[in-house]
Parts: sequence; C-alpha cells; structure tokens
Amino acid sequence: MSPSHPGRQVSAIRRKHSAVRLINSARQLVGNTPVIQLRNIVPEGCADVYLKLESGNPTGSYKDRMALSMIEEAERRGDLKPGMTVIEATGGSTGSSLAFVCAMKGYKFQVVSSNAFAMEKLRTMQAFGATLDLVHSPSGKITPDLIPSMVERAKEIAKDPSYYFTAQFNNRDALVGYEAIGRELLEQIPSGIDAFCGAVGGAGMVMGSSKILKSKWPHVHVVVLEPASSPVITEGRTGTHGVEGIGIGFRPPHLEDTLYDEARGVPEADARAMCRRLAKEEGLLVGTSTGMNVVAAVDLAQRLGQGKKVVTVACDTGLKYMNSNLLADD
Ligand SMILES: Cc1ncc(COP(=O)(O)O)c(C=O)c1O
Repeated sequence: MSPSHPGRQVSAIRRKHSAVRLINSARQLVGNTPVIQLRNIVPEGCADVYLKLESGNPTGSYKDRMALSMIEEAERRGDLKPGMTVIEATGGSTGSSLAFVCAMKGYKFQVVSSNAFAMEKLRTMQAFGATLDLVHSPSGKITPDLIPSMVERAKEIAKDPSYYFTAQFNNRDALVGYEAIGRELLEQIPSGIDAFCGAVGGAGMVMGSSKILKSKWPHVHVVVLEPASSPVITEGRTGTHGVEGIGIGFRPPHLEDTLYDEARGVPEADARAMCRRLAKEEGLLVGTSTGMNVVAAVDLAQRLGQGKKVVTVACDTGLKYMNSNLLADD
C-alpha cells in the first residue's frame, strides 16, 4: 500500500478487520462462503469461471446449510422436540452435517449409511456422537439399490414416534438452507451470472440456488449434472458409479423442471482428473462431485465465450477423500 494514499490504507485495514470475527457458536460458521475465480485451468477465450467454496463450512461441505435448515424448521413447527432422536439415511456428508448440528443442539442422532462411502465421513459422524447403522455394499460401490435400501431401513426405524426422520430427499426444509447460496451469489457477483451448474444427489443445492438466481436473472442457464455411468435424469436408466453424494439411483423428488434448463452426464474419470488439476494448478483440494462441477463449468465457459460468467460450487473438501486414491496414487 502506497503511503501517499492514507485513506486507501485505512479502508483496506477496516475491510481486513471486518473479516476477523469473534463468534458465540459454531452455528455462525455455517454459510457466507467465499467465491474464487479459477484462473489457471480455464483456457484462453472462455467465459470467466467462479467456484463457491462450500468446503469452508464447519464439516467441510454445503450439507451443513441443509442440516441446519432441516433441524431448525422442524423445531420451529414443533415437529422436533428436546429428547427426540434424529434419524437419516445418508452417504455421509448429510450425516456429518446432521451429526454436527445435533451435537450443537443436544439431540441424539442415528444414521443409516454404508461401507460404500468414505471412512472419513463415517468417523466424522461418530466423532459428533452419532450412532451408525451400516447397510453392506458387497462391491463397496454405490449400486442402484443401495440408497433406496438405506432409506427403507431409516423409514422402518422412524415408525417409533421418539424419532424424527429428516428424509432429505423429500423434505422441502432442505431447500431453505440452500437458497442462501443463491442470495450470497447475488451479493458476490452483482454484475450477473450467465450459467450455473451443479451435480445432483437430492438436487437441493441446485434447486435452492436456482430459485434465487432465476428470480433475479431469469436468463441464467442452469445445468444439472450426473455421473455419465448412471444416467437417470438424462436417459432414464440407472448404473453403478463411485461419485459420493450424487447419482442416487432414482430421479430426485426435489428436481423441478422450471428450475433447470439442461441435464448432462459427466464421465467420472474426467471429474477425478479435474480434482487433481484443481489441487496442483489452483491450490484447491476438492471432492469428486466438485471435479464434475468444474469439468462442466469449463465446458460451459468454452461454449459461452469471453465476457460471460459461469458459476459452480465446491461441494466439499478433498480432505474427506484422503484415504482413497482420488488426489494421489498409493
Ligand atoms: C459431496 C457431495 N456432492 C454433491 C452432493 C449433491 O448435493 P444435492 O443432494 O444437494 O444435490 C452431495 C449430496 O450429498 C454431496 O455429498
């Protein structure tokens, strides 16, 4: 900072200090995530590509937003009361986030999950005090019947009235938390967005964000993504894949035709290669679904060309996958 511009120096110091917070509860750590422009992996002549770093949430994923809204909306209505046990069927990110929120608020949490998901996530849930019930996947993969059978088991347990089943795939409260991603983007990129894309599991993130983005900029082109080997939305058939959090084996009930313009399958291998590039060329550690989001975002940026803006989301941190060979070979 040049000493000949003291005013500029003071405002820079103020800005820096306003980013340093003293907080009362871990609840305040959810949301308000930064956006970074990807400068090294986007070829010349393309649109700008921005990545919203949801890995900055307390458990390292955007699911913290959803867990908080599902619990707090149920509390507000009186459906969830002190002493009840929260239950969910989850691959682990939702489970980690619900375990975090339940720990903060003093609820017991029971999770139905599987060995098909990262050990780091199962351990995270245990660390927050959750009880684990695992459905075994013989191949260790996400087969078409795995998530439906986990949901069936959770439903069965939740017949006991002392349980509150958050049922993320059908629960509209999930979308409330994700609308904040859209609102934050309106502030972070006030000049407007031309395209937004995201890989879908329950589809809450893309639908919640799109609702807000399209209400301000109706022209925004929203693209939902799925693993090319499990083309449920694009081709109506299921398949096996290894991308955690997405490609749930059935069309997600939250998916609304009016809130997206295009659906695309992305090869898992391209997503994995992009994760490695993001680490080495941009300094960003992200999970496989984020790799998929960035592959599609760069593709859209090529299609749209210079002067346009494409936005996607880093769903979670690559630290959740360090026990796998996603980011480095054994
Ligand atoms: C790592 C990861 N990526 C993407 C998604 C998909 O998000 P949504 O369920 O909002 O479509 C999830 C959801 O569990 C996830 O855990």
